[in-house]
Amino acid sequence: MAQIAVIPGDGIGPEVMEQAIAVLERVNALFQTDLSFSYALAGGAAWEKYRDHLPEETIELCRSCDAILFGSVGGPVMEQSHIKWKNVERNALLGLRKEFSLYANIRPVRLFPTLAYSSVLRKDIAEKGIDLVVVRELTGGIYFGDPKGRSGRGHKESAYDTMRYSRSEIERIARQAFKIAEKRRKKVTSADKANVLETMVFWREVVDSISAEFPEIEYEHMYVDNAAMQLLKNPSQFDVILCGNLFGDILSDESAALAGSLGMLPSASLGRGGFGMYEPGGGSAPDIAGTGTANPVAQILSAAMMLRYSCARPDAAEAVERAVEVTMEQGFRTPDIWNDGCITVNTKEMGARITGNLE
Ligand code: IPM
Ligand code: MG
Repeated sequence: MAQIAVIPGDGIGPEVMEQAIAVLERVNALFQTDLSFSYALAGGAAWEKYRDHLPEETIELCRSCDAILFGSVGGPVMEQSHIKWKNVERNALLGLRKEFSLYANIRPVRLFPTLAYSSVLRKDIAEKGIDLVVVRELTGGIYFGDPKGRSGRGHKESAYDTMRYSRSEIERIARQAFKIAEKRRKKVTSADKANVLETMVFWREVVDSISAEFPEIEYEHMYVDNAAMQLLKNPSQFDVILCGNLFGDILSDESAALAGSLGMLPSASLGRGGFGMYEPGGGSAPDIAGTGTANPVAQILSAAMMLRYSCARPDAAEAVERAVEVTMEQGFRTPDIWNDGCITVNTKEMGARITGNLE
């Protein structure tokens, strides 16, 4: 039996989570996956009750579970300075990543053939297809390096962050990337900035040494600025893109835009021993919260990744992914991915269609 900590969060989080849970309950019935769900609060929702974005009670619950299914946190743009929302994403997300050593962030980006129109890319480029995975180091680099802070006053005031990577941090994320590539098109592109940054010279050396363990994988380096450009000009060349925390943050959002709606993209953040946190690529989208129009697909595909990585049920994961694909082929669309001739559905109907297509 697998215990799942469910954290719906803020904005559209609870609405899309409801659909993901409905899908998982159907999966339980069809595949005897034996998942059970316990709910916890984070973000603005937790602040209401605990005056804390990541209360100890939530961390305790997650600790007793096998995986975390996460919705999203964050408030409206105009209310960012309110204490309820101040630093909410940093506190809740970075807090969970650090607490559970979720060092491997896996963000698959696929442009569904039936959704090629929703890509920002020119038609001839989008039609070549996009099917890549960004593997991003998530608990090191400039996000967490010491020292960080401010010093001095007036014109002399300055602020600093530190980019630091240890050999073992680079080795474990590089191995993840190569292992993922083994099950895909067998190509890894490591994006770095070894022409400027000492950390990245080291990054390249260590990734080189790991690549020797995987002789059957095609391996290349690319400077991150070039990678950003290549993603626009020729995204179909990429299979697995390996990068550090900061570059991965940027390249994964860029890749997401290529695939159309953020509402379609799942992600996994993996720690040790199969523990992981699974969340949709988009945010809490407060502007459409409560309208019932949010796209639940990213949350549902995140649940599929959970079945694969934390529950060791690739069969159930594939069934969920197939159900999403079939639903797309049938022409059902939430407004974010709508196109002429498609059938508009709301959050609940989309969830129900996908659940209905499970087999
Ligand atoms: C992400 C987000 C977070 C990050 C923010 C909200 C802290 O952009 O998950 O990509 O930078 O990692
Ligand atoms: Mg980001």
